[in-house]
Amino acid sequence: MKGTFYITTPIYYPSGKFHIGTAYCEVLTEAIKKYKQSRGYDCFMLTGLDEHGQKIQTVAENNNLTPQEHVDKMAEAALKLWKQMDIKYDKFIRTTDDYHMSAVSKIVERFLSQGDIYKGKYEGWYCMSDENYFTESQLVDGKCPDCGREVKKMSEDAYFFNMKKYENWLIDFYKEHPDFLVPESRKNEIFKNFIEPGLEDLCISRNTFDWGIKMPNDPSHVLYVWLDALTNYITALGYMSEDDTLFKKYWPADLHVVGKEIIRFHGIYWPIFLHALGLELPKKIFAHSWIVMKDGKMSKSVGNVIYPEPLIERYGLDATKYYLLRMMSFEKDSVFTPEDFVEKYNYDLANDLGNLLNRTIGMMNKYVGGVIPTNIVVKTDFDDELNDFIDKQIKEVENSMDTYHVSNALSGIWSIISRVNKYIDETMPWTLSKSDDENDKLKLDSVMFNLAESLRKISIILYPFMESTAKEILNQLNIDNNDMSWDTITTHKIVENTSVIEQGKPIFARLDQETEIDYIKGLMK
Ligand code: MSP
Repeated sequence: MKGTFYITTPIYYPSGKFHIGTAYCEVLTEAIKKYKQSRGYDCFMLTGLDEHGQKIQTVAENNNLTPQEHVDKMAEAALKLWKQMDIKYDKFIRTTDDYHMSAVSKIVERFLSQGDIYKGKYEGWYCMSDENYFTESQLVDGKCPDCGREVKKMSEDAYFFNMKKYENWLIDFYKEHPDFLVPESRKNEIFKNFIEPGLEDLCISRNTFDWGIKMPNDPSHVLYVWLDALTNYITALGYMSEDDTLFKKYWPADLHVVGKEIIRFHGIYWPIFLHALGLELPKKIFAHSWIVMKDGKMSKSVGNVIYPEPLIERYGLDATKYYLLRMMSFEKDSVFTPEDFVEKYNYDLANDLGNLLNRTIGMMNKYVGGVIPTNIVVKTDFDDELNDFIDKQIKEVENSMDTYHVSNALSGIWSIISRVNKYIDETMPWTLSKSDDENDKLKLDSVMFNLAESLRKISIILYPFMESTAKEILNQLNIDNNDMSWDTITTHKIVENTSVIEQGKPIFARLDQETEIDYIKGLMK
């Protein structure tokens, strides 16, 4: 083992059905976890639900349910979706879990005893959807600067966390850790908007509703949902509980994956809370961008929301994961369109990858009796260039994944797939097979070996993103697929007398463009 790797998703609000934006966050985090695991790290992935707060209380009331009944129902739905998406998380936390609630109380008691919390009065503009107060100057056109929704003037007695006390420490921390929050543009945003104007103390309690963890010193107040939520990253590991073995093993987190709109909480308040607790900070925060639609943000009122289930049911899990991971750029919002989905499916999956495997299996049966040649004595003029290209691209994929540029990593994999397809055109195995020259027969062996070997490597690097496709490629080639770790790229070899299957099974059948574009358009609600 190379060491531990603790990675987290944000915990999602169970206020409605999860759309492909939420699913993206989960799939992205899982792909990074599986990559690190395949590189030999002992990984732990945390996900879960952020179940307290006014928003949840209101949604429950609108559905004639108690908040607990509502979150129980939503937790069941979330678990079902992650199961359908085969998400390999290690722990699913709910902020209504007893161990979490009791640890949070202890954390707050600690803050109180250190004098980090004081009582005051809060007046400001409140965004119900984001559960967040804003000052007049933070509003954008009189609306919430984060989500653009209406805000309401509110005033209440409240407890505050003394953020100012830690301001200089935070600034120094960022100076010493310039790569703590990526992409850099997001870090610049929080500096410009929140740190440079001077940190405001954070209101951490509410007394206008009761669905939350009670302030240990004053049960008429419940704890602000963000303080409750952020601490999930440590309570899930047993921090402040009887058994903190996981905490000792995995903390500090290696990576918090979060959406771009919640960086203020993760880039300012979370580091300060941890520092106040005397704990180490996470090593990195990666703020991803959003999936948007042609007409802007996904929203039920616009009727442009896409859910993951019907995509998975019709196009398969791997195709859906592939699309989400490939379409999203590292830094900018990316637009989901039915046209793009169908195009990427047809070109990348059916044509490039699917055909490569199918052609390889077909030629292997036709030209070399279905057995992958392993005794290579004569190379073609294209072999070295092909193999150098693949080795170089694998390094590029590693670089992209090590810096969390997941879409670039997939582009890198697809450049290998294209290069191998080109190798078939360059070497023309159909001509070599007809030749009477003994040398050409030996070259044909080399081509067939290189095709199988390239597909073997492709399947290993594809595994973190498209698990069953990666395994199916090796199945069809009859290559052992029990160990899919990255090292096997170099440590494993195709064994002598490996017979591929007699009839290739297409892994992605080409879609009829018009029918499927209409189908996906029909899914938008
Ligand atoms: N509960 C808080 C997080 C607390 S973490 C301690 C929250 N929940 S959320 O359900 O509103 O959002 C969860 C995540 O989903 C965020 O990272 C958000 O960016 C992500 N997404 C929601 N819609 C999205 C898109 N359209 N595109 C990509 N990700 C988006 O915030």
